[in-house]
Order: sequence, then structure tokens, then C-alpha cells
Amino acid sequence: MHHFHYQSGELYCENVPVRKIAAKVGTPFYLYSAGTLTHHYRVFNAAFAEFPHIVCFAVKANANLSILRLFARLGAGADIVSGGELYRALAAGVDPGKIVYSGVGKKPEEIKAALKANILLFNLESSQELEEINRIAGRLKLKARVALRINPDIDAQTHPYISTGLKKNKFGIDIEQALDDYCRARDLPHLDVVGVACHIGSQITQVSPFVDALERLKELIDRLRALDIQIRYLDLGGGLGIQYHDEAPPHPDEYGQQLLERLKGLKCTLILEPGRVLVGNAGILVTKVLYTKPGGAKHFIIVDAGMNDLARPSLYGSYHGLWPVVEGAHPQVKASIVGPICESGDFLAKDRLMPAFAPGEMVAVMSAGAYGFSMSSNYNARPRVPEILVQDQDFYVIRKRETYRQLIWGESIPDFLKS
Ligand code: LLP
Repeated sequence: MHHFHYQSGELYCENVPVRKIAAKVGTPFYLYSAGTLTHHYRVFNAAFAEFPHIVCFAVKANANLSILRLFARLGAGADIVSGGELYRALAAGVDPGKIVYSGVGKKPEEIKAALKANILLFNLESSQELEEINRIAGRLKLKARVALRINPDIDAQTHPYISTGLKKNKFGIDIEQALDDYCRARDLPHLDVVGVACHIGSQITQVSPFVDALERLKELIDRLRALDIQIRYLDLGGGLGIQYHDEAPPHPDEYGQQLLERLKGLKCTLILEPGRVLVGNAGILVTKVLYTKPGGAKHFIIVDAGMNDLARPSLYGSYHGLWPVVEGAHPQVKASIVGPICESGDFLAKDRLMPAFAPGEMVAVMSAGAYGFSMSSNYNARPRVPEILVQDQDFYVIRKRETYRQLIWGESIPDFLKS
């Protein structure tokens, strides 16, 4: 469910015509609906109501401060993977007691900052990382609460670039080796071993891989408890998929119910790290058609947003719906929507049936709220686009369009090049 809909032939986000926002901020821009974000969070959270749990929003999906703040006010925590994400989460007012830190390559200064902020949990991904966090915590005279991120060797049946729970992936600790590492962690003086974690992949459209992962972790928890390692947190990661096109992902209620059935009687707090499912369909990218090249070997529609603004189609061949901002009598054509970047991989849609958009018209690239802006770059020296948040009849610029001046910020020309 989302709040993008047509009224008298015009696309609205909640009660604001998208055209009105474009007139104010120009194109391209990202547009998010606060009502949809709130609804998605509430539905997801309610699906786990019967069990003690914390929903830690995966900041990487959309790191805008206002989005983080919106979720924090609804009670969410944050799943972070870098010092920068920690900084953002704290700046947005996320409770450090609800922050979990995952990632295979945490640097000493990042670990230090997270320890000082007293975050809830570090999800450790290798035996060497155990030693490193123990050492840093010792120097700060602190104890780090840790979970080991287990690689449960589960096929999440998703795109290979976003599958993370297979033995061959770089993530987590091999489940066979986990007991040894837990015993070592227990004996390290500055670690408080409190959790088991996993994250098996993203855009997963079935419940069964999650259930399989949970079963494996439950077995592990039993064995750990037998060794007197008291597990208080079970972090199942994120990964629940959304509908971009014709996928039929499970509703969060279904996902919640199937997991909770298997959690009965297990004394611990469940942690979930949803990203995409909360923000994906709550955001769109609005772009304008600059030119068209019909009639050749291929029909190209050239727009003002490119792969630097939305990388997913180029990177994963992802499908994003294309809606006209103003409905018209568009015939359907087989075409590609491409951006201004100097790469043939710069497309938002490839060889697809779509309305024959004409120059000057605006197109809404749907389901762009997750891994859209957060993966955008300045490639081809393109300033990053603004982000707008709509609430009911009002809209707010929650990130300004970058300026050329910002593009060269921090650069300097050494003296030998000046003369
Ligand atoms: N927790 C961890 C440890 C993760 O690595 C991720 C995503 C999540 C949670 C959130 O997963 P989600 O609920 O959003 O599926 N750029 C790709 C997706 C990469 C996901 C990486 N990890 C895309 O655009 O599809």
C-alpha cells in the first residue's frame, strides 16, 4: 500500500500534485510519502507485536536524516554498517540503545565511536574482529555487547549480488566454526556475548529461506546455552522483498507469523533489520524527458536522471515501474529510458513497453525509496538531486539539490600546478 495515486489525471503524492513540487524544485528529485513510511513501519512492527522485539531500520536503504527521525519517533532503532551511518543515526536522534552495527570491515575508529555511543550490539563477522573489538573496548575500559553474525548457508533465491547467506559469500562466520568462536569470545574479558545474528540477503520474496535460517540459529542457541553462553538477542537481519513488478512477496504479517510460530518459548529479544520493505515503495524518482529518438533501430527516451541518480537498473537489471506525472493519451511503445551519462549501461528501463513519453513530460520512476538516493553518486560531475518529503498537503525539502560549488568542495590545487 502506498500513497501515490491519480486525481483528475495527475499523479499525487498524498494530497500534493507531483507537478507542483517539480515546479518548485525542478527535476530530477526523489519524493517520499511520510504517510506511506509511517504505515509501512506500523504494519511491520505490528506483525511482531506478540514477541519482545526491536525494529532496527537498515540505514543503508535510505539514510536521509528526516527519514531516520521519522522512524525513530515511531520507536525504531537503526542497523548501521559504518561510522558515517552511526553519525547519521545519532544526528537524527535514534536511541543508541537500539542501534546494531553489522559489516565485514569495521575500522578501529568506527568501533571506538560506536563503543563510546554505547550502542546496543555489534554483529561480528570474523574471529579477527572479536580480538579487535576486545582490544579497543579494553583500552576504553568498556565491555562491548556482541553477537556473532552466522552464515547459515541458506540460498535466499535472490539476485547473486544481494545474496549474503551462502557459504561462498564474504559475510558472517561459518556456522560450523561458530561454536569455537563463541567459546573464544566468551573468554575475552571485554566482550559481553549476548546474541546470535544473521542476514541472508535482500529482496527475498518467500518466507521459507528466513524460516530455514531461523531453524539453524535456534539449534545454535540451544547448543550455546548448554555451554552456559546466555543468548539474549536473536537478530534475523533484513531482506523481506517488495513488489516492483510482478513479484508476490509475503505480507509482513505472514512473515511475522511464520517466524513467531517458531520462536515460541525462546527467551530472547528479536531484532529485525528491515530496509527495503519500509522505504522502497514509499519513494519515487521524478525525472523529465529531454529528447526522444524514435524510429531508429531502437526507440530511446532520454531523461534528465541517470545511473548516478538511480543505479539499480544498471547494476542489477532491476525493474522500476514508470508512471506519467500527467496522464495523457499515450500510445504504448517498446522503448528504453536512458540518462545523460556517457555509458551504454545508463538506463532506467530497457526495451520495455511503456507510454510514448514526449519531450517536456515528467516520468515517475516508481519504488525508488530504497537504495535510490543512498546509492547515488556525482559521476559525470552531476550534483546529487534533492529529496522531498510529503506529509498530507505539505511538502518539505529534506535535502537540497547539490550545487557546483559543493561538487568541488574539499579539492585543492597544489602549488606546483598553480604557476
Ligand atoms: N541488514 C544487513 C546486515 C544488510 O546487509 C542489509 C542489506 C539489510 C539489513 C537490509 O536489507 P533489506 O531489508 O533492505 O533487504 N543495493 C541492493 C540491496 C543491498 C542490500 C544490502 N544489505 C539493491 O538495491 O537491491
